[in-house]
Amino acid sequence: MTVKITCRPNGPYLIENDGTVELTDTAGTKIDLTGKPKFALCRCGASALKPFCDGTHSKICFQAAEAAVAKKP
Ligand code: FES
Repeated sequence: MTVKITCRPNGPYLIENDGTVELTDTAGTKIDLTGKPKFALCRCGASALKPFCDGTHSKICFQAAEAAVAKKP
């Protein structure tokens, strides 16, 4: 399985995979990703289509961390 997760600048997590990744809700119910080798997960919390991004992050001027925070020793 190959999965690439990219943090988009002030936007969602972009998920690219070979079609084998599984996504479930909090109850463990599988979310249908048929035909979606590439999809975006909301990072701002404002999407009406959670867990997917619907573009609302642009409307609310979401500001995300630009770089990963280093793990503290
Ligand atoms: S990251 Fe796009 S709507 Fe939240």
